[in-house]
Amino acid sequence: MQGFIFCFYKNVLRHCTSEIITILYLYTVFNHKHIKMSVEIFAKVQTVLETLKAEKIENAQELEAFRIRYVGSKNEIKALFGEIKNVDNERKKEFGQLLNDVKQAAEKKYELYNTELENNSGDQSGNGLDLTAPSEPIPSGSRHPVSLVLNRIINIFERIGFTVAEEREIEDDWHNFTAMNTPEDHPARDMQDTFYLKDSTTELLRTHTSSVQARIMTTQKPPIRIIAPGRVYRNETISSRSHCQFHQVEGLYIDKNVSFADMKQTLLYFAREMYGPQAEIRLRPSFFPFTEPSAEMDVYWGLKNDDDYRITKGTGWLEILGCGMVDPNVLINCGIDPEEYSGFAFGMGIERQAMLQFKITDIRQLFENDTRFLKQFSGVI
Ligand code: PHE
Repeated sequence: MQGFIFCFYKNVLRHCTSEIITILYLYTVFNHKHIKMSVEIFAKVQTVLETLKAEKIENAQELEAFRIRYVGSKNEIKALFGEIKNVDNERKKEFGQLLNDVKQAAEKKYELYNTELENNSGDQSGNGLDLTAPSEPIPSGSRHPVSLVLNRIINIFERIGFTVAEEREIEDDWHNFTAMNTPEDHPARDMQDTFYLKDSTTELLRTHTSSVQARIMTTQKPPIRIIAPGRVYRNETISSRSHCQFHQVEGLYIDKNVSFADMKQTLLYFAREMYGPQAEIRLRPSFFPFTEPSAEMDVYWGLKNDDDYRITKGTGWLEILGCGMVDPNVLINCGIDPEEYSGFAFGMGIERQAMLQFKITDIRQLFENDTRFLKQFSGVI
């Protein structure tokens, strides 16, 4: 019996020992594994810290990539916080601190580069936009020769008290013709054939700026002293001398006791200012339905070569304006008493004068918009 008990006890003991050993073994293995895991996680965090420190940020795109990876809502460091449960207890605190350091390092670096890129937005890669950088030079254009001459004319007349009045290019029959003493059956209408608006026999593109005379005289009381620059149209064959569109400057002076001598003196002043004291100028008699007496003013162009012959029709003179004393009929048509008031008017072509000033031999060049031609006037004021 005793032998049996001993035997039994020994067996139990032996059995239990192996159990304990197994438990001890398992514990050791587990513990070892756990320690091994902690080391690995620490190393992982260390690597993240090192890579984020080494990350190069040179432009906005790289900064954004950095933000997404280390600072954004789904950043890499956040994922590491989840590993804390795998770290053994004694090192949990250390691990937490390390992670916080990494997080702060990422945020600091992001802030630093963000402000740096903002302050110096002209980064070398060209991705940023530096608003303080000097801009690319914009090549300056040139004024059109017609504008150049027009501005000079306006300037000359403004100095002697004329003001600028601008009016419509689409006119009615009355202002363009009838009021200007050219009734419907008048042969002078043939000289100024124009473009009528579709389906209209009364609306037309004005043939001269003289229509502005009627517009002004029917709306303003004398004294009147205006110049009216603008575009006019005529149904003409286009050639080196004439075009179907061109520019004129109208002049109108209405007051008490205005004489032909006043007109001559005003136009002489203009010609001297425009072409200088040496220029040859002549005034010769002419006819216009709306002035009486009428005249035309020519400036000497020259007569040396074929171009000169063609442009001046072999005379050497270039006509620049028509003028005269305002016909009493025109004053009556516009409601001004010819017994009380008198005046003079003139109408000058701008293209002709641009040709004179710049020795342009073909009027068509002024309408072609060829920059090789127009560029030559850059710098002329
Ligand atoms: N209107 C005239 C023309 O175009 C010019 C002119 C204007 C003549 C004023 C006399 C008075 O030819």
